[in-house]
Amino acid sequence: MLIHTQKKSLVQALSSANNADSEIGKKKKIGFVPTMGALHIGHISLVNKALEDNDLVVVSIFVNPTQFNNNADLQKYPRTPEDDISLLKNLKGEIIVYLPQVQDLYETAVSAKDYNFEGLENEMEGKHRKGHFNGVGTILDKFFRIIKPDNAYFGEKDFQQLQIVRKLVAVEKLPVKIIGCPILREETGLALSSRNKRLDAKQVDEATLIYKVLNEVREKFDSTTLKELNELVAERFLQNESLNLEYFEIADEKTLKTAKQKSKHAKYRAFIAAFAGEVRLIDNMPLN
Ligand code: PAF
Repeated sequence: MLIHTQKKSLVQALSSANNADSEIGKKKKIGFVPTMGALHIGHISLVNKALEDNDLVVVSIFVNPTQFNNNADLQKYPRTPEDDISLLKNLKGEIIVYLPQVQDLYETAVSAKDYNFEGLENEMEGKHRKGHFNGVGTILDKFFRIIKPDNAYFGEKDFQQLQIVRKLVAVEKLPVKIIGCPILREETGLALSSRNKRLDAKQVDEATLIYKVLNEVREKFDSTTLKELNELVAERFLQNESLNLEYFEIADEKTLKTAKQKSKHAKYRAFIAAFAGEVRLIDNMPLN
């Protein structure tokens, strides 16, 4: 497994991997798994899927400063590069790790581009994390242009991000296929997330409320009005003393707009963001 800290050497490695194969007239299919590190089984499942579908997989490990609207959150984001590399070394297949410093990607200006994601960026996470999706778009736009992957893999836990990445590649006309992969969960239902590393044992236990509530909403979706479902979720979070609900939304999967009434033709998902102490957790579930 090769590890590159500079985009220049990464690009050279990708080009020599292709030159080696061009002698037999074949271009290597490149898969890409962007991460911010603190890897868990969810990331590993994305890398394994990418290894199945491609000849070579690039995994980036980079905590992207421009997607954090809260400096304390950026500082506290878990960073475990040695553990991440050990996990990746155990996998079978050709993997290149890209582990850059901020200057390698942002050079002199650590700032985000202003994108128009046709309104997707203004819903849910966009309302609560101003500028977040411009930061995500900026870094992925850079990665896609440097790595030129055929396929890129994203977990559905960040479902809004997944839809925005699809919009980004359409708007920027980037020749990469975006592949969404299902959410991986603990046995208790808690969605796997790098942020879970910041929870203590009690918070891990209490955070399972998020999954329980999403499940209850899914079960009652057909028989209950949207207003009643919203009231039910507010009630469940009021009854618990440890988690603070930031938002609950039932939204159309495509537009991400809050559902005002149920239509047979639309696909809906329930989305939750909640705080366990200082740690912000998000999760979602398809409803129909
Ligand atoms: O989902 C993440 O971990 C990040 O938003 C991503 C896609 C790696 C961009 O920094």
